[in-house]
Amino acid sequence: MYTIAVLLACVGATWAAGCCIPPQWEATTSFVISMIHNDKLVVAPGYSMMAYDGVNKVLGQYETVYLNSATPRSYGVLLDYKTNTKYTLNSEGACYRSTLNRDVAELSGCIPNNATMVSQNIVIGIGSNSMKVDTYKFNFEGSAAFVTVSSENCIPVKEVIRGSLEGNNFIQDLQYQNITGGISHPENLVVPPKGCENAPMFSAHFASDGFMGNVIGRRSVFLGL
Ligand SMILES: *[C@@H]1O[C@H](CO)[C@@H](O)[C@H](O)[C@H]1NC(C)=O
Ligand SMILES: *[C@@H]1O[C@H](CO)[C@@H](O)[C@H](O)[C@H]1NC(C)=O
Repeated sequence: MYTIAVLLACVGATWAAGCCIPPQWEATTSFVISMIHNDKLVVAPGYSMMAYDGVNKVLGQYETVYLNSATPRSYGVLLDYKTNTKYTLNSEGACYRSTLNRDVAELSGCIPNNATMVSQNIVIGIGSNSMKVDTYKFNFEGSAAFVTVSSENCIPVKEVIRGSLEGNNFIQDLQYQNITGGISHPENLVVPPKGCENAPMFSAHFASDGFMGNVIGRRSVFLGL
Protein backbone atom coordinates (compact mmCIF):
# COMPACT_ATOMS: atom_id res chain seq x y z
CA MET A 1 0.00 0.00 0.00
CA TYR A 2 1.28 3.38 -0.80
CA THR A 3 0.08 6.87 -1.15
CA ILE A 4 0.40 8.65 -4.44
CA ALA A 5 2.33 11.84 -4.10
CA VAL A 6 0.29 14.93 -3.68
CA LEU A 7 1.56 17.43 -6.16
CA LEU A 8 0.48 20.98 -5.82
CA ALA A 9 -0.04 22.62 -9.14
CA CYS A 10 0.81 25.92 -7.59
CA VAL A 11 4.02 25.83 -5.63
CA GLY A 12 3.57 28.41 -2.94
CA ALA A 13 6.42 30.17 -1.24
CA THR A 14 4.95 29.24 2.12
CA TRP A 15 5.01 25.59 1.24
CA ALA A 16 8.49 24.58 2.35
CA ALA A 17 9.25 27.65 4.37
CA GLY A 18 8.97 25.81 7.67
CA CYS A 19 11.38 23.01 6.84
CA CYS A 20 14.77 23.91 8.31
CA ILE A 21 17.19 21.42 9.83
CA PRO A 22 18.52 21.93 13.37
CA PRO A 23 21.39 24.48 13.54
CA GLN A 24 24.05 22.09 14.88
CA TRP A 25 24.20 18.33 14.42
CA GLU A 26 26.39 15.41 13.48
CA ALA A 27 25.72 12.37 11.34
CA THR A 28 27.28 9.62 9.37
CA THR A 29 26.37 9.39 5.72
CA SER A 30 26.69 6.63 3.18
CA PHE A 31 26.53 7.36 -0.51
CA VAL A 32 27.12 6.05 -3.98
CA ILE A 33 27.91 8.19 -7.00
CA SER A 34 27.61 6.80 -10.52
CA MET A 35 29.10 8.95 -13.24
CA ILE A 36 29.74 8.63 -16.94
CA HIS A 37 33.22 9.91 -17.75
CA ASN A 38 34.70 9.47 -21.25
CA ASP A 39 31.88 7.01 -22.06
CA LYS A 40 32.85 4.85 -19.09
CA LEU A 41 30.89 4.22 -15.92
CA VAL A 42 32.66 5.36 -12.77
CA VAL A 43 31.09 4.10 -9.55
CA ALA A 44 32.16 5.53 -6.24
CA PRO A 45 30.56 4.36 -3.02
CA GLY A 46 31.68 5.87 0.24
CA TYR A 47 30.77 7.10 3.66
CA SER A 48 31.48 10.10 5.81
CA MET A 49 31.23 11.46 9.30
CA MET A 50 30.01 15.00 9.22
CA ALA A 51 29.42 17.89 11.56
CA TYR A 52 27.08 20.68 10.53
CA ASP A 53 27.49 24.00 12.31
CA GLY A 54 24.95 26.46 10.98
CA VAL A 55 25.79 28.91 13.78
CA ASN A 56 29.46 29.35 12.85
CA LYS A 57 28.80 28.54 9.18
CA VAL A 58 31.25 25.66 8.90
CA LEU A 59 30.81 22.10 7.80
CA GLY A 60 33.37 19.42 8.59
CA GLN A 61 33.58 15.98 7.07
CA TYR A 62 35.82 12.98 7.23
CA GLU A 63 35.10 11.09 4.07
CA THR A 64 36.15 7.74 2.58
CA VAL A 65 35.56 7.00 -1.11
CA TYR A 66 36.02 3.71 -2.97
CA LEU A 67 36.57 4.60 -6.61
CA ASN A 68 35.72 1.69 -8.94
CA SER A 69 36.42 -0.71 -6.07
CA ALA A 70 39.99 0.53 -5.77
CA THR A 71 41.75 1.10 -2.47
CA PRO A 72 39.67 3.58 -0.50
CA ARG A 73 40.88 7.12 -0.10
CA SER A 74 40.08 9.24 2.89
CA TYR A 75 39.96 12.99 3.20
CA GLY A 76 39.24 15.50 5.87
CA VAL A 77 37.31 18.42 4.49
CA LEU A 78 36.35 21.70 6.10
CA LEU A 79 34.01 24.05 4.31
CA ASP A 80 34.16 27.54 5.74
CA TYR A 81 31.31 29.62 4.38
CA LYS A 82 32.42 32.78 6.15
CA THR A 83 35.64 32.99 4.13
CA ASN A 84 34.31 31.05 1.12
CA THR A 85 37.15 28.53 1.54
CA LYS A 86 37.35 24.78 1.29
CA TYR A 87 40.21 22.92 3.02
CA THR A 88 41.03 19.37 1.95
CA LEU A 89 43.46 17.27 3.97
CA ASN A 90 44.52 13.96 2.45
CA SER A 91 45.62 10.90 4.43
CA GLU A 92 49.30 11.86 3.99
CA GLY A 93 48.59 15.07 5.85
CA ALA A 94 48.89 17.38 2.84
CA CYS A 95 46.40 20.22 2.92
CA TYR A 96 44.99 22.21 0.01
CA ARG A 97 42.81 25.26 -0.07
CA SER A 98 40.33 26.03 -2.76
CA THR A 99 37.55 28.50 -3.30
CA LEU A 100 34.25 27.13 -2.07
CA ASN A 101 32.24 29.26 -4.49
CA ARG A 102 29.41 29.58 -2.05
CA ASP A 103 27.70 32.46 -0.40
CA VAL A 104 27.22 32.28 3.35
CA ALA A 105 23.44 32.58 2.81
CA GLU A 106 23.51 29.26 0.96
CA LEU A 107 24.15 27.41 4.20
CA SER A 108 20.61 28.15 5.33
CA GLY A 109 19.77 24.55 6.18
CA CYS A 110 16.28 25.08 4.81
CA ILE A 111 14.42 23.52 1.92
CA PRO A 112 14.27 26.32 -0.69
CA ASN A 113 10.99 28.16 -0.89
CA ASN A 114 10.49 27.25 -4.53
CA ALA A 115 10.90 23.48 -3.96
CA THR A 116 8.07 21.21 -5.01
CA MET A 117 6.71 18.77 -2.48
CA VAL A 118 6.77 15.38 -4.18
CA SER A 119 5.34 13.29 -1.37
CA GLN A 120 4.14 13.97 2.14
CA ASN A 121 3.66 11.89 5.29
CA ILE A 122 4.88 8.67 3.69
CA VAL A 123 5.30 6.03 6.40
CA ILE A 124 8.54 4.05 6.47
CA GLY A 125 8.91 1.13 8.84
CA ILE A 126 6.02 -0.60 10.57
CA GLY A 127 3.84 -0.03 13.62
CA SER A 128 5.54 1.75 16.49
CA ASN A 129 8.84 1.33 14.60
CA SER A 130 7.88 3.77 11.91
CA MET A 131 8.27 7.39 10.96
CA LYS A 132 6.77 9.75 8.41
CA VAL A 133 8.85 11.42 5.74
CA ASP A 134 8.35 14.18 3.17
CA THR A 135 10.22 14.45 -0.12
CA TYR A 136 10.94 17.72 -1.90
CA LYS A 137 12.32 18.31 -5.36
CA PHE A 138 14.31 21.35 -6.39
CA ASN A 139 17.01 22.43 -8.83
CA PHE A 140 20.51 23.46 -7.94
CA GLU A 141 23.00 24.65 -10.53
CA GLY A 142 21.74 22.38 -13.27
CA SER A 143 21.14 19.39 -11.01
CA ALA A 144 17.81 18.08 -9.79
CA ALA A 145 17.67 17.09 -6.15
CA PHE A 146 15.14 14.93 -4.34
CA VAL A 147 15.50 15.48 -0.61
CA THR A 148 13.69 13.37 1.98
CA VAL A 149 13.31 14.65 5.54
CA SER A 150 11.29 13.49 8.52
CA SER A 151 7.84 15.08 8.41
CA GLU A 152 8.30 16.05 12.01
CA ASN A 153 11.25 18.41 12.72
CA CYS A 154 12.74 18.28 9.19
CA ILE A 155 15.59 15.88 9.98
CA PRO A 156 17.56 14.86 6.85
CA VAL A 157 16.97 11.25 5.79
CA LYS A 158 17.99 10.88 2.15
CA GLU A 159 19.05 12.77 -0.96
CA VAL A 160 19.14 11.79 -4.59
CA ILE A 161 20.83 14.21 -6.96
CA ARG A 162 21.19 13.88 -10.69
CA GLY A 163 22.86 16.25 -13.04
CA SER A 164 26.09 17.05 -14.77
CA LEU A 165 29.45 17.89 -13.27
CA GLU A 166 31.89 19.45 -15.72
CA GLY A 167 30.08 17.66 -18.54
CA ASN A 168 29.92 14.27 -16.80
CA ASN A 169 26.41 12.99 -16.10
CA PHE A 170 26.02 11.63 -12.62
CA ILE A 171 23.55 10.41 -10.06
CA GLN A 172 24.25 10.38 -6.35
CA ASP A 173 22.30 8.62 -3.66
CA LEU A 174 23.03 9.55 -0.05
CA GLN A 175 21.61 8.48 3.32
CA TYR A 176 21.97 10.27 6.64
CA GLN A 177 22.36 7.97 9.64
CA ASN A 178 22.74 8.22 13.39
CA ILE A 179 22.04 11.93 13.59
CA THR A 180 22.79 13.51 16.96
CA GLY A 181 22.23 17.09 18.08
CA GLY A 182 25.05 19.50 18.91
CA ILE A 183 28.77 19.53 18.07
CA SER A 184 30.76 16.97 20.07
CA HIS A 185 34.25 18.10 18.95
CA PRO A 186 34.25 21.85 18.19
CA GLU A 187 38.06 21.74 17.93
CA ASN A 188 37.64 19.84 14.64
CA LEU A 189 35.79 22.80 13.14
CA VAL A 190 38.40 25.45 13.86
CA VAL A 191 39.38 27.58 10.83
CA PRO A 192 41.96 27.03 9.42
CA PRO A 193 42.23 23.34 10.34
CA LYS A 194 45.45 22.22 12.03
CA GLY A 195 48.13 21.68 9.39
CA CYS A 196 46.35 23.91 6.89
CA GLU A 197 47.77 27.26 8.02
CA ASN A 198 49.97 27.58 4.94
CA ALA A 199 47.97 25.37 2.59
CA PRO A 200 48.54 26.20 -1.08
CA MET A 201 45.62 27.23 -3.28
CA PHE A 202 44.37 24.48 -5.52
CA SER A 203 41.94 24.63 -8.42
CA ALA A 204 39.62 21.68 -8.05
CA HIS A 205 38.41 19.77 -11.08
CA PHE A 206 37.00 16.39 -11.79
CA ALA A 207 39.70 13.84 -12.66
CA SER A 208 39.15 10.25 -13.77
CA ASP A 209 41.87 8.95 -11.46
CA GLY A 210 39.96 10.08 -8.45
CA PHE A 211 37.29 12.42 -7.28
CA MET A 212 40.01 14.65 -5.92
CA GLY A 213 38.76 18.09 -6.51
CA ASN A 214 35.29 19.25 -7.08
CA VAL A 215 33.40 16.32 -5.66
CA ILE A 216 35.30 15.68 -2.45
CA GLY A 217 33.38 16.93 0.54
CA ARG A 218 30.49 18.27 -1.48
CA ARG A 219 27.69 15.85 -1.14
CA SER A 220 24.54 17.63 -0.27
CA VAL A 221 22.51 19.94 -2.41
CA PHE A 222 20.21 20.37 0.54
CA LEU A 223 23.04 21.90 2.55
CA GLY A 224 23.90 24.26 -0.26
CA LEU A 225 27.08 22.51 -1.33
C1 LIG B 1 14.39 27.88 -7.58
O1 LIG B 1 15.28 28.97 -7.50
C2 LIG B 1 16.61 28.68 -7.87
C3 LIG B 1 17.47 29.90 -7.68
O2 LIG B 1 16.94 30.84 -6.83
C4 LIG B 1 16.67 28.18 -9.31
O3 LIG B 1 18.00 27.83 -9.64
C5 LIG B 1 15.74 26.99 -9.49
O4 LIG B 1 15.72 26.59 -10.84
C6 LIG B 1 14.33 27.37 -9.02
N1 LIG B 1 13.36 26.29 -9.23
C7 LIG B 1 13.38 25.07 -8.65
C8 LIG B 1 12.24 24.17 -8.98
O5 LIG B 1 14.23 24.69 -7.88
C1 LIG C 1 24.97 3.96 14.36
O1 LIG C 1 24.85 3.87 15.75
C2 LIG C 1 24.82 2.53 16.23
C3 LIG C 1 24.54 2.58 17.72
O2 LIG C 1 25.42 3.43 18.37
C4 LIG C 1 26.12 1.84 15.88
O3 LIG C 1 26.08 0.49 16.32
C5 LIG C 1 26.31 1.86 14.37
O4 LIG C 1 27.57 1.31 14.04
C6 LIG C 1 26.24 3.29 13.86
N1 LIG C 1 26.25 3.24 12.40
C7 LIG C 1 26.93 4.12 11.67
C8 LIG C 1 26.84 3.93 10.18
O5 LIG C 1 27.55 5.04 12.14
